[in-house]
Amino acid sequence: MSTHAAPRKKVTVLSLRKKKRNGVPITMMTAYDYPSARSVEDAQLDMILVGDSLGMVVLGYDNTLSVTMDDMVHHCKAVARGAQTPMLVGDMPFMSYQVDIKEAVRNAGRLLAEGNMDAVKLEGGIEMVDTARAIVNAGIPVVGHIGLTPQSVNQLGGFKVQGRKATAAAKLLEDALAMQDAGCCAIVLEAVPDRVAKYISETLQVPTIGIGGGNGCDGQVLVYHDILGFFDKFTPRFVKQYSQLNTVIGDALTAYKTEVESRTFPAAEHSFTMKDEEWTAFLELVEPKVNANDWFGIAS
Ligand code: KIV
Repeated sequence: MSTHAAPRKKVTVLSLRKKKRNGVPITMMTAYDYPSARSVEDAQLDMILVGDSLGMVVLGYDNTLSVTMDDMVHHCKAVARGAQTPMLVGDMPFMSYQVDIKEAVRNAGRLLAEGNMDAVKLEGGIEMVDTARAIVNAGIPVVGHIGLTPQSVNQLGGFKVQGRKATAAAKLLEDALAMQDAGCCAIVLEAVPDRVAKYISETLQVPTIGIGGGNGCDGQVLVYHDILGFFDKFTPRFVKQYSQLNTVIGDALTAYKTEVESRTFPAAEHSFTMKDEEWTAFLELVEPKVNANDWFGIAS
């Protein structure tokens, strides 16, 4: 009997549907570069989102609005080099799909052709149906994103829970159904009351991926830096920190500083040796010149 596990299969839109049908939760995590993608690959999660949240957690902006298509392509490429089996979803940044449908299709295409993604994600409900359908018609899988849509932070008046009122919840359901109709292969539900998210998940044929949507969604996504305790500007209520990397990194950097300043680092095991006879030959070569204050012809 072979002891080798079979190589993991690539996750596709069909595997996601199958998981939903079988009631198996879908796991998704953001990643923004080669090492984070490698970690998500090694942990065998189903999907990676190269989120425009990179504007906040990697580039230090206050929101996601300044992220450009070139930023996204750059980070998508790095992630694709680090992860082969998860389904890779590239976020369409602010103003890359809102102005013109042709431009939206072209930009979605860039995330696949240049960024090596498998699918794209865009924010919005009914108002984005034509755009989503055009991208799907171009052969590009689209993940929808409704509820708290961070690119509309100024219109929403902040990063706030959506769909708490009956009419707002009904509008979310309409948005979800419209995006499913447009051909979306999955829908992210962000910051939505758990019973509303569960109702939408049970109504849709395509999987829902919750972030602050409770555990009735078909899958979950969180931001890499949030779960690792690697981003401390603010922590939304829906985040669970599984580690405190900021503390681990801070301790490591302080220890390095202390050891360099006390000459404890580098120790012998971090240094390279030279044979005695080469050292003696070296001294014979250079010392007459040093002593004559004539360093290879350069007089001091
Ligand atoms: O950009 C992002 O990380 C996202 C998730 C919060 C869903 O859109």
